[in-house]
Amino acid sequence: MKTILVTGGAGFIGSAVVRQFINDTEHRVVNLDKLTYAGNLQSLASVSDNPRYRFEQVDICDATELARVFREHQPDAVMHLAAESHVDRSISGPAAFIQTNIVGTYTLLEAARTHWNTLNAERKAAFRFHHISTDEVYGSLGETGFFTEDMPYEPNSPYSASKASSDHLVRAWHHTYGFPVVTTNCSNNYGPYHFPEKLIPLVILNAVNGKPLPIYGKGDNIRDWLYVDDHARALRLVLEKGKLGETYNIGGWNEKTNLQVVQSICSILDELHPQGAPHNKLITYVTDRPGHDQRYAINANKIARDLGWKPLENFESGLRKTVEWYLSNDAWVKGVTSGEYQNWVQSNYTNRSAA
Ligand code: NAD
Ligand code: DAU
Repeated sequence: MKTILVTGGAGFIGSAVVRQFINDTEHRVVNLDKLTYAGNLQSLASVSDNPRYRFEQVDICDATELARVFREHQPDAVMHLAAESHVDRSISGPAAFIQTNIVGTYTLLEAARTHWNTLNAERKAAFRFHHISTDEVYGSLGETGFFTEDMPYEPNSPYSASKASSDHLVRAWHHTYGFPVVTTNCSNNYGPYHFPEKLIPLVILNAVNGKPLPIYGKGDNIRDWLYVDDHARALRLVLEKGKLGETYNIGGWNEKTNLQVVQSICSILDELHPQGAPHNKLITYVTDRPGHDQRYAINANKIARDLGWKPLENFESGLRKTVEWYLSNDAWVKGVTSGEYQNWVQSNYTNRSAA
């Protein structure tokens, strides 16, 4: 049994990783999360009573608190998911992205490296720092081609530039200090517990509520979609078997235009939630995102070939599951849309810890 420190474990992907570790392995998990607007402990309600789960409300920019957490929990590995993750927010307010994604990653690397240096030879050799990143660091593709691990970085948004910076820091800590890192770059995730500022949950919830479905520009931008649990499985595999200093691209070979995605959600809702059908009458074309990347597409051959990973869901099965989840998880949805989840943290979590 190992102790895995997961940063950003109260977020969309981090919570899927934590749930998998607790449900499918024997490992202990320390979830370190600042609980920004995107952090929601209700996403972990199914595992939070497990004795192998611990929560630490800590900012990754806080070196003192990080040192305490490493000292107290003595992790065998770090999976670093904490980040500001929304491209539109990075355009209207880049400061938090620079702070968390760059300064925070630097601060975490230093805390982890200090801890690593205190370990005995056996634990030191087994230690891993897994940095979770995005395909957006590669920039935008034309009509053909795929992102491969050896492509030059060409980030276009404040978000992707901040993630690219963090990838470079992680790489440098390996090259300079021999710090044992592995990095993954993944395409667009979707699935349960996704914060409804991102396209898929936003469209599902707006459609159910008869609100406009905003499509930026012409809706012809292409994203490559991966079901979140497939991503979480890939991350666990890379942590366990990935080669130090390597990067692995993760993607589902599921390219869709944004309009196709929205039309598919509307068709599923017409069947599962016929009130308001046809839902595609709500589609509304709005001003484009500044600097909007045209196309992302991951070549996921390396992780398939070297580690034997492949996704279990295709886009049709994953999207149907996702819509069904939003339709049947009213309490989570209401908590998030009303903002109540942030009060829940204060009143429930703090009291429970004190008890
Ligand atoms: P998210 O926004 O849902 O969650 C981010 C989490 O990080 C939240 O719980 C938040 O409270 C926490 N956090 C933010 N700032 C923090 C700080 N300073 N200290 C501690 N915790 C902090 O993000 P997500 O979609 O789950 O993405 C997780 C990671 O995966 C990110 O690094 C992101 O760049 C990467 N990624 C996301 C996608 C995607 O499609 N969502 C795809 C590829 C890579
Ligand atoms: O590619 C991986 C990235 O995917 C991750 O690194 C990011 O953290 C994650 O947020 C996601 O970024 P995108 O910008 O691709 O995701 P988003 O859901 O914001 O938008 C998906 C596409 O849909 C994009 O082309 C913009 C468009 N869009 C988005 C919203 C929110 C719309 O047309 N309308 C909308 O209302």
